[in-house]
Amino acid sequence: MSRDTDTTSGAASVAADRTPVLVVDDDPSMRAGLRQWMRLAGFEPVEAVDAEAALGRIDAAFPGCIVSDVLLPGASGVDLLRRVKEIDSELPVVLMTGHGDVPMAVEAMRQGAADFIEKPFDPDLLAAVVRRAVERRRLVLENRALTRRLQDLNGLAARLIGESAQMRALREQISHFAATDASVMIVGETGTGKEVVARALHDLSARAGGPFVALNCAALPETMVEAELFGHEAGAFTGAGQARAGRIEQAEAGVLFLDEISAMPLALQPKLLRVLQEREVDRIGGRGTTRVDIRVVSAANMDPHRAVSQNLLRQDLLYRLNAVEIRIPPLRERGGDARLLFDSFVNRFASDYGIEPAPLAADDAAFLLAHDWPGNVRELRNAAERYVLNTPMGAPALRTLAGGARDMEDMRRHGRLRDLMEGYERRVIADALRRHGGSVAAVLAELDLPRRTLNEKMTRLGLTRGDVDPSMDA
Ligand SMILES: Nc1ncnc2c1ncn2[C@@H]1O[C@H](COP(=O)(O)OP(=O)(O)OP(=O)(O)O)[C@@H](O)[C@H]1O
Ligand SMILES: [Mg+2]
Repeated sequence: MSRDTDTTSGAASVAADRTPVLVVDDDPSMRAGLRQWMRLAGFEPVEAVDAEAALGRIDAAFPGCIVSDVLLPGASGVDLLRRVKEIDSELPVVLMTGHGDVPMAVEAMRQGAADFIEKPFDPDLLAAVVRRAVERRRLVLENRALTRRLQDLNGLAARLIGESAQMRALREQISHFAATDASVMIVGETGTGKEVVARALHDLSARAGGPFVALNCAALPETMVEAELFGHEAGAFTGAGQARAGRIEQAEAGVLFLDEISAMPLALQPKLLRVLQEREVDRIGGRGTTRVDIRVVSAANMDPHRAVSQNLLRQDLLYRLNAVEIRIPPLRERGGDARLLFDSFVNRFASDYGIEPAPLAADDAAFLLAHDWPGNVRELRNAAERYVLNTPMGAPALRTLAGGARDMEDMRRHGRLRDLMEGYERRVIADALRRHGGSVAAVLAELDLPRRTLNEKMTRLGLTRGDVDPSMDA
């Protein structure tokens, strides 16, 4: 599907509130009459002279009905009926038969015609027959949309666990906005599930068959972001041996996920804005532009409006990125979901590791709900994994397992280098902020960091000044 939702050609080119009725007749004067009657009855006539032309104008999503003469040049109206039923067995076809042609009418009904009408007919009768068929069609399509939505929501509930009102609303939002091509910005603290949401938006959309290409703006050195995003021609710069498509081009017909958008280098932001406006991309060192058809989903740890006021994000870019803003609540605001998530993670890890999980002690259950989970679902998931792994030795109190990647002792035992480094950085910065009472200026001086770097790190590590000293504004 193209990103243009305002289709202006083909059978769908009708006024939004008028249901199309496809009239098929080779007799021009008959078509003129049908056209006029359909307009008067409040429908939008679409015309075809034979079965072939008619079939070119419909698909399984056709919102109206078909009115066809039985006698057509080439394939007959009954043939047309049969082929329409192959496209969508619930697309109503009304056949016009010659006066007294009872056997034909019987055959038409047997083949699944919605109705038939004998020529010559009273226009009011035709309008009534069409109205009935169109109404039936509307119900069928409504029902299908509802079924699809319920299926989406069921699938989503397994990926995005939570029965709190906030999580239900979040799933509704996702299933709704997945159907559009609007740019979505996902805002939420670290570990709240932004990537899960971004992937769900892709998987439930018409672009599901296309790629999901992610770029974490904070994870790359600033100097590399441009080449990664925009690609380059051969020899565009030292080391650019072969031409390479950037992530933007790689996401063609799919979704480009720009993670941690407030870490997007400022100098690149106008260039990215241009891609979003013009829907075309220039490679570095390239001589021409390539058109791209992508949907952009972005994510931010910090409030993007705050990122704008801190000069991390250009306002014009923000407005291109957040046509829709989806906010994911922190885990501490999701009530009993912490328990639900914990149980489901414990079950999953228990079966992965082949360990029989211990029943949860009352203290642990209370802790789950009382803890503020600064690392959100990721922290909870890590705690659940440790809980399962420690069960054979006698499950320790959950409060000693929480804290996720913040706990250096724990990470020394198992962890990826990146997590270890992040944990270390987080501890150093949080410690400096605490000692300086949340004064960013003092921290910049002590750690000898540019402001932008510190801002980026704090964002990436989910640190705010308010985290370290509740008296400071966050
Ligand atoms: N509602 C949920 N149900 C099940 N698993 C979840 C849910 N939310 C998050 N997760 C899991 O928690 C972990 C963190 O989620 P994710 O990576 O999407 O968070 P994030 O918001 O992108 O974090 P960060 O800001 O650190 O990048 C992942 O393992 C993810 O699968
Ligand atoms: Mg993420």
